[in-house]
Parts: sequence; structure tokens; C-alpha cells
Amino acid sequence: MNTKGLILAGGAGTRLHPLTRVACKQLLPVYDKPMIYYPLATLMLGGVREVLIISTPKDLPSFRALFGDGSHLGMKIEYAEQAEPKGIAQAFLIGESFIGGQPSCLILGDNIFYGKLDFFREALALREGACVFGYEVRDPERYGVVEFAPDGRVLSIEEKPKQPKSRFAVPGLYVYDAKVVDICRNMKPSPRGELEITDVNLEYLRRGELRVKVLGRGMAWLDTGTQTSLLEAANYIAAIQNRQGLMIACIEEIAFHQRWIDQAQFERVIAALPKNEYREYLQRVAEGR
Ligand code: G1P
Repeated sequence: MNTKGLILAGGAGTRLHPLTRVACKQLLPVYDKPMIYYPLATLMLGGVREVLIISTPKDLPSFRALFGDGSHLGMKIEYAEQAEPKGIAQAFLIGESFIGGQPSCLILGDNIFYGKLDFFREALALREGACVFGYEVRDPERYGVVEFAPDGRVLSIEEKPKQPKSRFAVPGLYVYDAKVVDICRNMKPSPRGELEITDVNLEYLRRGELRVKVLGRGMAWLDTGTQTSLLEAANYIAAIQNRQGLMIACIEEIAFHQRWIDQAQFERVIAALPKNEYREYLQRVAEGR
């Protein structure tokens, strides 16, 4: 399995100013980790081991400082610039050589999923066509919105419609076959000058190759788009972690459990960390306590 993973961590984050005046949104804390740890962990839990992080020329060096080449996690992490905000779908053009004619998946750097990730693993196993997801929310007009026929067929997907045809938002996690790069190349920018991910999904729908899996209410897909939702996401992570004594999106732990690094490498990673609670947690994991 060699689906390539892309994380798009661009954007000006204007809605969160002044929080994002200096640090970009995807580096802001969500409780005890930078936001991007969560989408990276989602890819890792799906088994995606090669990841391209796409960000602005200004912010890319920070991500590189955070994850390096990924070898300490037994991963291959690469970096690419999105010089101007020309849309989510542009990620596949920027990532073309990284994708190398393989299936790929894209997760937005501000999307947090918590729960059983079987839906994602099943989507990755398809390798043909496109698979995106639907998640019921109170405020669908803020997202891509998918409309279903009574028999479950997808009727439409609309980007931020004023009058949503359903309450099912499309989360920022997309799985595509190798055709996605060509589809993006042949697409026209939308009136706001962006290559829209919704247009990519509509093209797969037109070809009869789009699947939309509905995520059950037992999954958490958290929003980080506003100050309040960012705080709520942090509180959610804190509540679960402090109840269970287990960490969410602890990338070193996931790499170890995936057997991408062995015990000795895991211990070297831990030894390089400053003495704090995060390190103590990893030490407990390493000792199997
Ligand atoms: C983007 C997509 C939208 C999707 C959302 C998920 O919107 O355009 O279709 O539902 O991500 O987070 P944005 O967050 O860039 O406004």
C-alpha cells in the first residue's frame, strides 16, 4: 500500500486574527499539541507513511522545523510551497511529482478527527475513483454540502451554499485515485480565483466514480475555524485524554505502534525530548506500563 498523503496547511487564517498574526493557524495549540499533529496522526493511523506538507513560503520553514524529514517517525515527510492561495485542489498540482502516479489522499491541516478510523482505511483500500465523507453538522452552510437521494445516491455537492440542501458537510479529508492530478490540471478556477476541491468531487461524480461515506455520529469531526470552536476542540481533547490517561495524536506513539520505528529508535526519540509530561507519557508507552 503506497497511497501518498498530502496535508494542506496554507491560508491566511484571517478569521482567527490576531491569533494568526505571526503563527499560522495549523501551528496554533489544540490543547497540548500544535494543530497539525492531529491531521498528521489521522494519516498515520490510516497507514499513510509518505506525506507532503504544503504551506506558504513564510510558514513552511516552521513545519520543517517541527517534523524534519520524518525519519525519526519511520516516515518520509516532504515539503512544498503554495505561493498563493489558489485553492485546495491546487495541492494536487503542487504535489504531482511527489504523488508519482499513485493514489493519494489529502487532509486539511485544520481538520481534527477522533474515533474509529475504519472509514478512512476502507476508503484508502479502494484505490479506484474518489471517496469523500459526509458528516452531519448544525451549520452546513460553512462547508461543502452533499445532498443524497432517498436511496443514498449522491445528487449534488455545493460549496458553502446559502441554502444548504442537507445537513451533511464534507470534511477536509479526500481520497482519490491516480486520475486526480489530471482532473485538477484540466479544471478552471472558480469566480473567486481558486481551484475548488468541490469541483474535483463533482467531476468524479459526473464520471460515476464518486463515493460519499456517511460518518456516524459516534465520530468526532471537530471544527477549529473560530475562536470558540478552537477552544471547544481543545477542551474536547483535554477531556478525553485526562479521563483515559491516553494521548490523542501522539505521533511518536503512533509510529511505534505502527512498527514504523523499533524500540531502540523509540527510546532515542524519547531521549531527545525535554523532560516534561509529554516525555513521561512516551516513557510509559515504551515501558509498556
Ligand atoms: C474547505 C472546503 C469545504 C470543506 C471544508 C472542511 O473549506 O472548501 O468544502 O467542507 O474545507 O473543513 P474552508 O475550510 O477552506 O473554508
